[in-house]
Amino acid sequence: MAQLREAMDSHRAAHQSIGLVPTMGALHAGHISLMERARKENDIVIASVFVNPTQFNNPEDLRTYPRTEQADIDALTAAGVDYAFIPSVEEIYPEPDTRVFDLGPVAEVMEGAMRPGHFNGVAQIVSKLFAMVGPTRAYFGEKDYQQIAVIRRMAELEGFDLEIVACPIMRHPDGLAMSSRNVRLSPEERAAAPAIHRILSESLAMAPATSVADVKRAVTEALDATDHLKTEYYEIVDARTMQPIADWSEAPTAVGCATVYCGDVRLIDNITYRF
Ligand code: PAF
Repeated sequence: MAQLREAMDSHRAAHQSIGLVPTMGALHAGHISLMERARKENDIVIASVFVNPTQFNNPEDLRTYPRTEQADIDALTAAGVDYAFIPSVEEIYPEPDTRVFDLGPVAEVMEGAMRPGHFNGVAQIVSKLFAMVGPTRAYFGEKDYQQIAVIRRMAELEGFDLEIVACPIMRHPDGLAMSSRNVRLSPEERAAAPAIHRILSESLAMAPATSVADVKRAVTEALDATDHLKTEYYEIVDARTMQPIADWSEAPTAVGCATVYCGDVRLIDNITYRF
């Protein structure tokens, strides 16, 4: 880790920009698109692969999270990143991380409400990575829309001077959002899962003529009527604040955020309503 800091310090001293792509591995084309974007916008690209235990509120989810280290190394090599940082849990957390971040309202709803401690764990690891790497820019996918808002809040709290770059969701040709968790879907579940994006997309035509409450109800009913799918929540929030809206007039841009179980795999996705 001292080596990593030294290498990053030397790039900064040479006025080279550094793009950081934090990941939990099981890399797919969505991750690679973040690395390509980082490659275009920075002199140096560093990707981290670390399944961060402190952000898993469910031990079974941590145990079953896909781990594909050799394939990840091959993918990072093929993507042409300059540095791959693949630390052990002991390296990142030689002592338990007891920091509690005041993440505020953005972290209290949706994933924050469903997964207690999850965002604090994300803030712990991302703040450590920012401190170690000192990136000019850091890249995150918009599939985890709320996570980006939480990371922005953490960066502001901690005074990190960097650009947080939100990158569009990458999808399979059938519309399913790319996710490391997709490999856990059975063939039948995999066939059902694209309905999530289809149903969310169809709801765009309902707004703003239909009320927010009715759109939420229609989306939830359509998801739940699909074999293998069970909605945990469908919430429509102000894109700036992550706070649920009751009327479309409350937000120029609203985001519909879905968490849906497909079998026992928890999938998330979102759609943007712009007016
Ligand atoms: O989105 C993820 O993969 C993780 O939450 C992140 C940002 C790499 C932190 O562990």
